[in-house]
Amino acid sequence: MRGKTRGVVIACAVLAVAGLVSLPRLLFGNDQSRAKELIQQTCVQCHRLEGKPDSRFNLKAPDLIWAGSKYQRPWLIGWLMGKEEPLYAKGYRWDLPGAVGKHATVSESDANAIADYFQQHYKDPRVQVGAFDVTKVSALEVEFGRQAFKAHACIGCHVIEENGKIVGGPQSASLVASGKRYNLDWLFRFGLNPQDFVPHSGEFLADATEPQLRAVIGFLAVQGVKDFTYYEPWTSQEFGMASVERGKLIYKEYCSQCHGPTGKGDGPAASGLEPKPAVHANMAFDKLPTEYLYNVINHGGRAIGKSTSMPYWGLTIGQQGVADVMAYLKDTFKGAPAVTAQASVQPGKLPGVCPQPRKTQEAPGSFLELKNPLLAKSEQVAVGKKLFQETAKPLACMNCHGTHGDGMGPAALGLTPPPRNFTCGQTMKGIPDGQLFWIIKNGSPGTGMMPFAGLSDDEVWQLIHYLRSLAR
Ligand code: HEC
Ligand code: HEC
Ligand code: HEC
Ligand code: HEC
Repeated sequence: MRGKTRGVVIACAVLAVAGLVSLPRLLFGNDQSRAKELIQQTCVQCHRLEGKPDSRFNLKAPDLIWAGSKYQRPWLIGWLMGKEEPLYAKGYRWDLPGAVGKHATVSESDANAIADYFQQHYKDPRVQVGAFDVTKVSALEVEFGRQAFKAHACIGCHVIEENGKIVGGPQSASLVASGKRYNLDWLFRFGLNPQDFVPHSGEFLADATEPQLRAVIGFLAVQGVKDFTYYEPWTSQEFGMASVERGKLIYKEYCSQCHGPTGKGDGPAASGLEPKPAVHANMAFDKLPTEYLYNVINHGGRAIGKSTSMPYWGLTIGQQGVADVMAYLKDTFKGAPAVTAQASVQPGKLPGVCPQPRKTQEAPGSFLELKNPLLAKSEQVAVGKKLFQETAKPLACMNCHGTHGDGMGPAALGLTPPPRNFTCGQTMKGIPDGQLFWIIKNGSPGTGMMPFAGLSDDEVWQLIHYLRSLAR
């Protein structure tokens, strides 16, 4: 009896020591068999874990064949514990009555065990690890993705959240929290050909390029994610090692055909373009925001509401090329101080002049009648000022219209026609509020004045109060 007790105690001690050394493995082993049992007893009643992709109309629930690659772990655990929002508002099998129901839940430890089990046994070999780099998603790319999500009808069958509202057709999986749900490498592979996963299910093949697919996935990567850290390409290694010399060559090979060999805007293509290519020689590049310059050069005029004739260069010259040509611009073109000085002596030729020649297209009648609905209180003027000087996107107004509003900003002298001189009461008093409103929202066609479609009506009216406060 005594001997026996002792034997047990010793055996326990040995086990404990062995357990300490290989504890994770032992636990893992146990949990793995538990997970396997759970899956085979319950989950397979509805889900398939083996087989070829098949029509939703032959299945009871989404396939878990690639479950080891599809999800972010915290989401999967949450889902299995019943803590996540339903994915199919009308039921996975919307064609059957009573399709909407609550999903089975398991304990936290079982959920973890199942997640481990999926990772071990249900990785999808088609998914390339690192295919989508979430640390390289910039704010502008997410914006492109948002546009593409609508342009390619994704919103017709999948819901997302916009300004606090759920929008879109709730037919397929909800993409509201997609940034917390999907492994993005899986999402990228799915996007290359959805029919490799969900054939004959009502899915849709978009006529999109790989960069567009990446932009859409970038957009999905931020859905439901608070404080997403956006990539700022202009802080990358390429910019650290930018070369003015290499940039000079790029300018000759690619930019001079429109902007001219010395940046005077007189390249061979310029004669046929409206608006004219910017006169770089007159722009103070070191005073312009780097983010803006990157966006207009890498993503092109259209990305920021400017002329589509300004190409998007990212694919052609690569990130190093963009960095190099930006270094060249900043190093070479510092504005036109001589000309600027002359302007004050020789009025009538350059911006800053008053009265200012004006050929701006007239707003539709319904706009011309609009009156500023906000009272010209100092708070309103202050909000307008902040937008004008600092925060308006894609580019704060002062960069063209000048800090004093005299139309002499760092980019101003590169533009034909020049920016409006808001200090010139003589010109400004003839322009109705509704006209200003319309131009700010839509831009001035054929000129360097881009639309500020992202501003709310109130913000535009606040800006107008500020502009009016500048006139003398
Ligand atoms: C009674 C049927 C049923 C059982 C049993 C069941 N599920 Fe599901 N499961 C569904 C349905 C239906 C959906 C679609 C979700 C929705 O409608 O919101 C789903 C969704 C899922 C999803 C998300 C799939 C995706 O990518 O869209 C996962 C993961 C999942 N189930 C795992 C499990 C696991 C693990 C088990 C076993 C512990 C299990 N399910 C048991 C029916 C079932
Ligand atoms: C005509 C409807 C339709 C359109 C348009 C559509 N989809 Fe889908 N999508 C589906 C269907 C159906 C599935 C299959 C999954 C299912 O059974 O609901 C699917 C699946 C998906 C999935 C995988 C869902 C999951 O969790 O398994 C993603 C991601 C997705 N679509 C994204 C997109 C994107 C991005 C676009 C736009 C380029 C798009 N879809 C356009 C119907 C559509
Ligand atoms: C096919 C003609 C063309 C080529 C080639 C071209 N650009 Fe442009 N670029 C334009 C036009 C047109 C504009 C004026 C856009 C507007 O005001 O709407 C412009 C404007 C710009 C601007 C000023 C944007 C602003 O805020 O007004 C910059 C900076 C610029 N281009 C840089 C470059 C660089 C760098 C290259 C070479 C890598 C290049 N461009 C090549 C046509 C071209
Ligand atoms: C990239 C340079 C640029 C930026 C940035 C810019 N503007 Fe302009 N803006 C211009 C140019 C060039 C014109 C002259 C257009 C014309 O002659 O039709 C102009 C004209 C205008 C006009 C005159 C409309 C009229 O009917 O005469 C208003 C108002 C205006 N801008 C407001 C703004 C405001 C407000 C912002 C900031 C939210 C802004 N602009 C930012 C270049 C710019």
